[in-house]
Amino acid sequence: MPDLPDIPELIRLAVAARDRAYCPYSNHPVGAALVTDAGEVYTGCNVENAAYPLGSCAEQSAISAMVLGGGRAIRELVVVGPDDAPCTPCGGCRQRIREFAGPDTRVHACNERGVLLTVTLDELLPESFGPENLNQR
Ligand code: THU
Repeated sequence: MPDLPDIPELIRLAVAARDRAYCPYSNHPVGAALVTDAGEVYTGCNVENAAYPLGSCAEQSAISAMVLGGGRAIRELVVVGPDDAPCTPCGGCRQRIREFAGPDTRVHACNERGVLLTVTLDELLPESFGPENLNQR
């Protein structure tokens, strides 16, 4: 098992991802960095589109990168928004995270300087529906 990145390192990576965000419509750049149970790190940024509903969130991009890289389980996730208001995942991303995380998986809403808010997935999405409901996994 490689050394797990600590929260400050995940924040640095999420900030670097946020710097790549494509968000000309909202001007709300977001970066995400997740570490898997195997200790691998994946990052993502939001990518908007002139056809507004087609935009994707930073968390969604990081999860796609994780799946492409062979990861299947999120150990911890950091999200960095544009300012000091905690950028917590949208409803759709809560469900996307749910697919690859457990109830105790921690999600940290951060700014460049540190953690603003830490919540578990179960707090973000209580009584949730997931793969187990379909007898998967
Ligand atoms: N956004 C994210 O990427 N992650 C979040 O957690 C909340 C919102 C993006 C979507 C859109 O590009 C912009 O922020 C404004 O909603």
